[in-house]
Amino acid sequence: MLNFELYNPTNLIFGKGQIEKLSTLVPKDTKILLAYGGGSIFKNGIHEQVIQNLKGFDIVEFGGIEPNPHFETLMKAVEIIRVEKIDFILAVGGGSVIDGVKFISAAVNFDGNPIDILQKRILIKENAVPFGTVLTLPATGSEMNSGAVVTIQATQEKLAFGGSAMFPKFSICDPTVIASLPKRQLQNGVVDAYTHVMEQYLTYPHEGYLQDRIAEGILQTLIEVGPKVVENPTDYALASNFMWSCTMALNGLIQKGVPSDWATHMIGHELTALYGIDHARTLAIIGPNLYRVMFETKKEKLAQYGRRIFNLTGSDDQVAQEAINKTVAFFHTMGMDTKLSQYTNEYEKTADFIVNRFNERDWKGLGEKQLITLEKVKSIVEMSY
Ligand code: NZQ
Ligand code: ZN
Repeated sequence: MLNFELYNPTNLIFGKGQIEKLSTLVPKDTKILLAYGGGSIFKNGIHEQVIQNLKGFDIVEFGGIEPNPHFETLMKAVEIIRVEKIDFILAVGGGSVIDGVKFISAAVNFDGNPIDILQKRILIKENAVPFGTVLTLPATGSEMNSGAVVTIQATQEKLAFGGSAMFPKFSICDPTVIASLPKRQLQNGVVDAYTHVMEQYLTYPHEGYLQDRIAEGILQTLIEVGPKVVENPTDYALASNFMWSCTMALNGLIQKGVPSDWATHMIGHELTALYGIDHARTLAIIGPNLYRVMFETKKEKLAQYGRRIFNLTGSDDQVAQEAINKTVAFFHTMGMDTKLSQYTNEYEKTADFIVNRFNERDWKGLGEKQLITLEKVKSIVEMSY
């Protein structure tokens, strides 16, 4: 097993009715920026619950953080925080609102132009405005990790950043909030979390036996509850296992001491930046083709995955191939279209565009062994048309 440090200071508060604890979690006598998205929290009553449990606090509201949050929008909140002298930010929303708040928190006291946080991928280790979250959409794991992804609208770049100061102080995860989610977002959540596990699991055989078993447990749980929770989001057993699986998929635990890939995400982010395709759907398009193109380096792990998750039998080659087909079939069950041409007619230049961008960023060897060269990226994207 590789050496590792496990640092995760987020206080995770999980379960029904836990929003009631808000007033004890937000530091006393602070002025709060309540940040949210396009308004779903008004329709499902979460806004009201939050306000009721923050009586006595001075609150300034900032709405309009869009899915795949924009740098340009977030900078407006940075200005408000500076002018209003805000001490604490509360994100109420899905991954986009939480990621947006991470950027706002980092940008307020940043010494320099905050766009550099994204374009130069600066690690944020200090001077962040403290923030907490009320999660409304299980998917990204952002509620318990220190990463975020922000889009610069002007240049159509979707860029990741993070750092140890980007962990939420607390996150309230009440599974009942998923009742109001549209089917499409529930499907997205399952596939995003599933792919997070795959990025950290589907590499090459290593000595992280426990990490593998935990990863496989999350995959099996998502396969078990995913299709059902989409149909019955008010079933608490389904909702709670779905939400906890999503958090566990990307709270850092399963990636400790093992190699990880993340190239599906890096390529997928480009598809969102170019065509606005939902994050999870880009992963369903790219992931299986990445496994096909990188078959030789991932074959042994694909075979383990096929045997342990889908009970497949046969030679490593046969099981590994069939495991990819089973993955695509699961994504179809989860309502995903897995071809780029099903989302846009103008896909022909996508591979060249992405390769150029990666070249400019000097991303010439992605994946667990840095073997995903620009040529391989081109093949993966072209195979996804
Ligand atoms: O904006 P509102 O009106 O709130 O509506 C949202 C939004 O339209 C809606 N929604 C959220 N909770 C709801 C609800 N609708 C009804 N009831 C509720 N309870 O859902 C829509 C999508 O929300 P969004 O936050 O964009 O979805 P998600 O949580 O999937 O986040 C996606 C973003 O997270 C990034 C993605 O790239 C993307 O930008 N990621 C962040 C990661 C991280 N920080 O670790 C890792 C991921 O791989 C991912 O890249
Ligand atoms: Zn993701």
